[in-house]
Amino acid sequence: MKHIDIKEIFTNAEFIGKEATVCGWVRTARDSKNVGFLALNDGTTLNHLQIVIDKMSGIEVDVEATKLGASVKVIGTVVKNENNGTVEINAKEIVLLGKCPPDYPLQKKFQKLETLRENPHIRVRTNTFNAVFRVRSVMAAAIHRYFQDRGYVYVHTPLITGSDCEGAGEMFKVTTIGYSEDYKNAEEYYADDFFGKKAGLSVSGQLEGEVAAMAMGKIYTFGPSFRAEKSNTLRHVAEFWHVEPEIAFAELPDLIEIAEDMIKYIIRDYMEKCPDELKFFEERFEKGLTEKLLNVVNNDFAVVDYTDAIEILKKADVEFEFPVEWGCDLQSEHERYITEQVYNKPVFLINYPKEIKSFYMKQNADGKTVAATDLLVPGIGEIIGGSEREADLDKLLSAMKAKGMGTEEYSDYLDLRKYGTVPHSGFGLGFERVIMYCTGMANIRDVIFYPRTVGNIR
Ligand code: 4AD
Repeated sequence: MKHIDIKEIFTNAEFIGKEATVCGWVRTARDSKNVGFLALNDGTTLNHLQIVIDKMSGIEVDVEATKLGASVKVIGTVVKNENNGTVEINAKEIVLLGKCPPDYPLQKKFQKLETLRENPHIRVRTNTFNAVFRVRSVMAAAIHRYFQDRGYVYVHTPLITGSDCEGAGEMFKVTTIGYSEDYKNAEEYYADDFFGKKAGLSVSGQLEGEVAAMAMGKIYTFGPSFRAEKSNTLRHVAEFWHVEPEIAFAELPDLIEIAEDMIKYIIRDYMEKCPDELKFFEERFEKGLTEKLLNVVNNDFAVVDYTDAIEILKKADVEFEFPVEWGCDLQSEHERYITEQVYNKPVFLINYPKEIKSFYMKQNADGKTVAATDLLVPGIGEIIGGSEREADLDKLLSAMKAKGMGTEEYSDYLDLRKYGTVPHSGFGLGFERVIMYCTGMANIRDVIFYPRTVGNIR
């Protein structure tokens, strides 16, 4: 259907005075004796185009074309709207494309996000979700551009895997048959299954990412990861999008530099490409969002040792729900205190106790900590988890043993340390969490198209 995007009509002055065809959905309709107005949106911009219907002109309009949610094609002349300085269309013909009955769920102008979540297929039609998904798209492109322009190779790591990267037992099982009493044990059951062994949905592409980095030097993955953790929080989903660069010959300080540079790059790109969306989020969801993001791009992030963070938390004049001791896993309340109350900017926490981190992290000379880093941001907490990797085969094997892990499933991974091992590092960025940070959306369920959480799938 030949037509012009509404965004084009608004931004290209050449259309003024000319006839144009636009299509879209009716957002509001107003009527008076001689004139009617439709606010039309086609999803290409947050702004609605006003369609003016001069009833004296003899134009015939199907009443169904003026109902909220109806889809229409409008042919008319583009004219300047003298009141607000934008443009509108004086309709010559309005064609009804699709009716929209009164049970359409978006009857009220402002609806609660919780209510909208019940209709993921409809909520995308609101300005809020239009803005969220446009920002997601722009930021995904920025991530690809960042890595592509710097020579990283985009690797598609498998989603079905035979090894659990984080070793945390949070994997969804992939199976084509149910367990039955006929099997003598789990091994026999898995042997009978599709892959002949236990398989699951990948929690991270890192292990395969390391394989690729040992060949191509600098790689990244950007795809879904799956976690069967039953964390019903504002920042966990069972299926999230994961950006994972892996860099050969990079040590922890190099990794931190890359992560900070990438975050600043994608935020700058978002601010430049999505001014309308940013303004919308600022007005509707987070006062001070623009200033917050400007502070992020214009200032250095803090780098704080885990041991120092524990001291800060112990001295804090705050009653934490979870007590703080060296060796403890930091809870969200601790992370937020450090990043919001103490630094008020993004903080790389580094050098965590080895007991609370994954087997693959490089063991520091102190024998107690590993060269890991989490990037914590105000309001959200952790958005990045990464580390330098243990490149020494013996040390890696001893860490696996200490964590009670078998080595059989990890033979490829161990071979990387056998054949020309090198220092290397990588991190994982939770894409939804960075979108939350950049939009001010407080619940992760509102920045992903169809959120999957405990007890919720459609
Ligand atoms: O800290 P995580 O578990 O690290 C890894 O998976 C490493 N293998 C990454 C690497 O080094 N290549 O996860 C990385 C990030 C977290 O910081 C968080 O932003 C996000 O992934 N994340 C989740 N996001 C939404 N829902 C969940 N359930 C998430 N779990 C992790």
